[in-house]
Amino acid sequence: MASSDGTQSPHANIGVVGLAVMGSNLARNLASRPGNTVAIFNRSYEKTQTLMDEHPEAGFVPSADYAAFAASLSKPRTALIMVQAGKGTDAVIDELVKVFEPGDIIIDGGNALFTDTIRREKAVRATGINFVGAGISGGEEGALTGPSIMPGGSAEAWATIGPILKSIAAVAEGEPCVTHVGTDGAGHFVKMVHNGIEYADMQLIAEAYDLIRRGTGKSPAEISEVFAEWNHGELESYLIEITAEVLRQVDAETDKPLVDVILDQAGAKGTGAWTVQTALDLGVPVSGIAEAVFARSLSSKPEQRAAAAELPGPVDTWTVEDADEFIEDVRLALFASKIVAYSQGFDEIVAGAAQYGWDIKKGEIAKIWRGGCIIRAQFLNRITEAYASDPGLVALLTAPYFVDALDRAQGSWRRIVAMAAHAGLPSPAFSSSLAYYDGLRAQRLPAALIQGQRDFFGAHTYKRVDKPGIFHTLWSGDRTEIETEPSSH
Ligand SMILES: NC(=O)c1ccc[n+]([C@@H]2O[C@H](COP(=O)([O-])OP(=O)(O)OC[C@H]3O[C@@H](n4cnc5c(N)ncnc54)[C@H](OP(=O)(O)O)[C@@H]3O)[C@@H](O)[C@H]2O)c1
Repeated sequence: MASSDGTQSPHANIGVVGLAVMGSNLARNLASRPGNTVAIFNRSYEKTQTLMDEHPEAGFVPSADYAAFAASLSKPRTALIMVQAGKGTDAVIDELVKVFEPGDIIIDGGNALFTDTIRREKAVRATGINFVGAGISGGEEGALTGPSIMPGGSAEAWATIGPILKSIAAVAEGEPCVTHVGTDGAGHFVKMVHNGIEYADMQLIAEAYDLIRRGTGKSPAEISEVFAEWNHGELESYLIEITAEVLRQVDAETDKPLVDVILDQAGAKGTGAWTVQTALDLGVPVSGIAEAVFARSLSSKPEQRAAAAELPGPVDTWTVEDADEFIEDVRLALFASKIVAYSQGFDEIVAGAAQYGWDIKKGEIAKIWRGGCIIRAQFLNRITEAYASDPGLVALLTAPYFVDALDRAQGSWRRIVAMAAHAGLPSPAFSSSLAYYDGLRAQRLPAALIQGQRDFFGAHTYKRVDKPGIFHTLWSGDRTEIETEPSSH
């Protein structure tokens, strides 16, 4: 071990601070790549010792304090922080800044809120040290075998850390799932939207399962087969694959399907809520993601759900005539709703990039999500192609491939949403996605009436369709119209 006086010769080319599940797996991943020697540090030494004991093959360079950790790293020093997001990250940065020098690089690989990353980057940059906020997706398995990595920070830092991150990232179709997303908080912003899309994708899959189960009476094991089959088509993705696995699982204690003994209250760690809160601030409708976040909140309100259990439901009975046709309708409704969720997510990335001055290449983002991360899917290639053929695409769902897919799916989508409403089955993400689609398509929206109402009670004015200028009707007077701001034409 390096001593606190820093006498050990610096020979590690990268260090990891924080050796819980993510940090220890990333440290092992780094150590397994040729040319890397990995320094490790954890606030409490037990985790460092455990990792050393369990993985002597990794050749880790352990330290018991920050000074020794810094001394064990060759210059420019590079440290990856994988600690509890929030105060933990700030505490580690404060310590590293004391022992690092200008030109060194601190990477925060935790799930930081992008505005925290912007703040930290600014503060750390003032010391001459580079700070990179990097979104890392893929959970503990991805961390060990190859995650999808979304780094922000400066181009200078990327030049140094790019090769290291490429060496540990997942590989999809021969390409590493990492790219320099943009400056300061861009990486964590994109990771946040990734998580929001993940929420929507999971909710849509859950709704599809629920509709099939209630509509056809199939067992979880039978529905597992449906998902396994879907995984060979255009829905092919990690989330569809693991859905089939979860539905197939039988509880050893009760011999029931595991899904039937799991409490139906979904947890959340907050990144979905951040995606929605940020979208609200940016004025971007991410209704599919929002419904997914709210559906988890609703599920976790047992008292309200118990009190509402006796509320009246539909009187008519609901029967599915042809189970195979119904399942195909659900599949297409899922695909169409998924297109909406991704389109909305990319809208948020575009809006964030404009707001914060990031040059984000949308097609590159879809590419680095093809492997390693939770939303990895075949479908992401179509997004990359869409942005490659039209970088200025105003909405993803208007790209030719998606227009064709929506054309194929919309009949099924409408049938499923209507049937769910008729049967009294909750399908918030399916139905809100369809409502968004129809809202976007509509050439005339009732927003005109809202403008009229706003002008009536608050003199908020309105524009007209037939001439330029800003107008107000004298609602409490003689109701003539006045031009409040004459047009310059
Ligand atoms: N788990 C996942 O699947 C996943 C996926 C993607 C991203 N992430 C993100 O990756 C990061 C690490 O996640 P994790 O699950 O491995 O760990 P975690 O449970 O979020 O955090 C535990 C680690 O943080 C350290 N820590 C906490 N407060 C500290 C402080 N004030 N100073 C120094 N160290 C401190 C702990 O040190 P001690 O051992 O001394 O307590 C421990 O090493 C988090 O930001 C998380 O959100 C997690």
